[in-house]
Amino acid sequence: MVDYDSIKSSDIMVHLKNLSMSYQRGVNALDDLSFQIKKGDFVFLTGPSGAGKTTLLRLILREVYPTRGELLVNGKNVPKIPDNKVFLFRRDIGAIFQDYKLLNKKTVFENVSFVLKVLGKPKREQRRKTFDLLRKVGIQHKLHAFPPSLSGGEQQRVAIARALVNSPALLLADEPTGNLDPDLAVEIMKLFLDINHSGTTVIVATHDRELIHMMDKRVIALERGKVVPWGYRKRVFDDLREEE
Ligand SMILES: Nc1ncnc2c1ncn2[C@@H]1O[C@H](COP(=O)(O)OP(=O)(O)O)[C@@H](O)[C@H]1O
Ligand SMILES: [Mg+2]
Repeated sequence: MVDYDSIKSSDIMVHLKNLSMSYQRGVNALDDLSFQIKKGDFVFLTGPSGAGKTTLLRLILREVYPTRGELLVNGKNVPKIPDNKVFLFRRDIGAIFQDYKLLNKKTVFENVSFVLKVLGKPKREQRRKTFDLLRKVGIQHKLHAFPPSLSGGEQQRVAIARALVNSPALLLADEPTGNLDPDLAVEIMKLFLDINHSGTTVIVATHDRELIHMMDKRVIALERGKVVPWGYRKRVFDDLREEE
């Protein structure tokens, strides 16, 4: 058993031990994972489609439960958090998922400032931080627009601003650059670096190898729910190219 008290006081943001998760009996979406992510780290989670990247992020956010093993996030034993406390746990986590979950009847500004309002921040601070983030993701000109009138890439940028506005302890981003053109993807990665430098632990799930190589950060590679050495597939790919 893990000594939860020592982990609580330590510098570990995510702790997995023999963690498995299956949606259906007998098929493990995640299979016996054990690793840790330190507070302040910037980590890429990569692997082919179906490898388990999204499942791992959903486990961390307590959207789904492990079938087996230990999962601690920010000192909390995630599966054991009482249902009525989950919202508090999630307040420290900025999440950017592929279904942006924007509020369609609220403006871009309201979508992003909402969390600050819930936290009871002064109006001036709400406005300042919201404008600042909307500018950083390059969507300040759509302040008064409603999400259904925006393109996929624009909605994605609103979701990114919303996730960052509260300077969360942990940022989870699932293919955050999937709908963005390459220049903008680089801008978003710079933004993630900034927020990481100010103390947020960042976990980015992506299959974009160029992005990963450009960033030169720790990489956790998954395949069929297991951790595999990063770089292996690249070599195979390079070998194939040489034969062409
Ligand atoms: N809601 C679900 N119900 C059943 N199986 C699922 C569900 N979501 C994902 N899976 C399965 O779990 C495995 C991991 O999927 P996922 O975490 O989405 O991988 P990735 O994000 O790396 O593409 C896949 O085999 C996928 O088919
Ligand atoms: Mg996925």
